[in-house]
Amino acid sequence: MDGAAIDLSHVDFSYGRGPRVLSDFSLHVPEGRLTALVGESGCGKSTVLSLIAQLYRPDRGTVAFGGVDTAGYAPESVLRNVALVDQDVFLFDDSVTDNVRYARPGAGDEGVREAYRLANADNFVRALPQGYDTRIGENGGLLSGGERQRISIARAILRDAPIVLLDEATSNLDVENELAVRRAIANLLSSRRTVVMVAHTLPIIRGADAIALIDGGAVAELGTHEELLARGGKYSRMWGASRPRRRGGHE
Ligand SMILES: Nc1ncnc2c1ncn2[C@@H]1O[C@H](COP(=O)(O)OP(=O)(O)O)[C@@H](O)[C@H]1O
Ligand SMILES: [Mg+2]
Repeated sequence: MDGAAIDLSHVDFSYGRGPRVLSDFSLHVPEGRLTALVGESGCGKSTVLSLIAQLYRPDRGTVAFGGVDTAGYAPESVLRNVALVDQDVFLFDDSVTDNVRYARPGAGDEGVREAYRLANADNFVRALPQGYDTRIGENGGLLSGGERQRISIARAILRDAPIVLLDEATSNLDVENELAVRRAIANLLSSRRTVVMVAHTLPIIRGADAIALIDGGAVAELGTHEELLARGGKYSRMWGASRPRRRGGHE
């Protein structure tokens, strides 16, 4: 892959015969930067991540990495270059460590443990009945939502992909888990990667290089937190400058 900038250009997308979710959607994501996607629930944030991850193809328009249309990419190449961290992390009925190592089959134990540590997962994994070798069961039923997300982050850290897509899911976690997930995300973001994240919490959004507000199937506002606040548009209404943190209501 030649460069990790991402370009969605004039993308139309619907799920099957359903209503159009994205309509002439264009967004440039610069290499090595953090771009946050915000907007009302159902506006298409997760859909944009799915299109970048090649889980779906656009009905019209293109998704390009490093200026090259991904339409011709082999699935393995996408897998190698893109790490997707979201709520429905796929876990197979194997040991927790096998589930993480799957991100980089050749990784040694030390590499896997380092990934656990950075993902803030080391403590709870060691506390499982058989520690690192515990089978986590179909769909990881043994793990809480926050723990599953940290396993997913450990995978992404181990994969070390140039593009990281993150669907931040802190809204339905308890406080302790939320803190742990946020620290894990901070570690994931600490090295220079191209990151697109659906962000719900203001501290992360504030630190983003660019924020894209999605409305009506396209990017309605684009800029830094300060720029969008100064604009006095939908973003500034959403976050309300006086409220340090707003929960619920907006995803
Ligand atoms: N797999 C799917 N099949 C059909 N419709 C979907 C699917 N996923 C999402 N949608 C619909 O597409 C729209 C955008 O969803 P989504 O991208 O998940 O929004 P957001 O992440 O911003 O909340 C919503 O109307 C949602 O109901
Ligand atoms: Mg979503």
